[in-house]
Amino acid sequence: MSAKIIDGKAFAAGVRGRVASHVARLKADHGITPGLAVVLVGEDPASEVYVRSKGKSTVEAGMNSYEHKLDADTSEATLLALIDALNKDPAVNGILVQLPLPKHLDADLVINAIDPAKDVDGFHISNVGLLGTGQKSMVPCTPLGCLMMLRDHHGSLSGLDAVVVGRSNIVGKPMAQLLLGDSCTVTIAHSRTKDLAEVCRRADILVAAVGRPEMIPGDWVKPGATVIDVGINRIERDGKTKLVGDVHYASCAEVAGAITPVPGGVGPMTIACLLANTLTAACRANGLPEPEGLTA
Ligand code: GUN
Repeated sequence: MSAKIIDGKAFAAGVRGRVASHVARLKADHGITPGLAVVLVGEDPASEVYVRSKGKSTVEAGMNSYEHKLDADTSEATLLALIDALNKDPAVNGILVQLPLPKHLDADLVINAIDPAKDVDGFHISNVGLLGTGQKSMVPCTPLGCLMMLRDHHGSLSGLDAVVVGRSNIVGKPMAQLLLGDSCTVTIAHSRTKDLAEVCRRADILVAAVGRPEMIPGDWVKPGATVIDVGINRIERDGKTKLVGDVHYASCAEVAGAITPVPGGVGPMTIACLLANTLTAACRANGLPEPEGLTA
């Protein structure tokens, strides 16, 4: 069997297009332009690239982008004062503090200072609790993107066996909650799981989010399963730098029914879902209906 390739780049372009159309309607009908504030502390080159890309995508979707770049030695008090000002600013519907933060700053404290209604990353402890109890929340972007692709491929996920390999707060745990919300039977596995290969072989939906290059080989995959690869690992091969996922793509693609490639699978969905979350936050803030198909 040769798997259907789930084209995340095309899917993300579709999501961004739907966000842009909805934003245009919000402007025309209600005079509202959603706004996203991104805060970057320090000069981490990878973070600078992400932040630029987020700002550009926000503007392309017709929304306002507010970038706040702070020095690496910014004090916690200064950062918290900025977050407080953004929380109070009605033009700002979404706030994202780019992680990782410099070591002298307490990331949990900073994230939990964001108004949960503006927490477009879905990292605030209130949003974590709301998601865990099946209530309306802001949902972390990467798992939301995975859920959208799975719903599109399967229609209903009800009753399917889902295995999430990885237990991070950003991907593994919220992914498991979302799959449970769609009535999957969910297992969270990780690097210490006994008989990980056997556990993976039970999965109708296998989500790999462990951060280990090509850790999951094809013979861990149930024939016909859907494989969602969240990993983005930079490796050296044949003297060149290459991006690979957490699954061994060639062997998994022979067995799976559908698979996301790396790059071009889950990756592009993360920013698309950040835009979707910003739009959702703007609709909620103004008491307007949420955009259909862009939320959990
Ligand atoms: N750094 C890398 N990915 C992310 C993300 O999704 N959100 C934030 N805030 N920081 C990140």
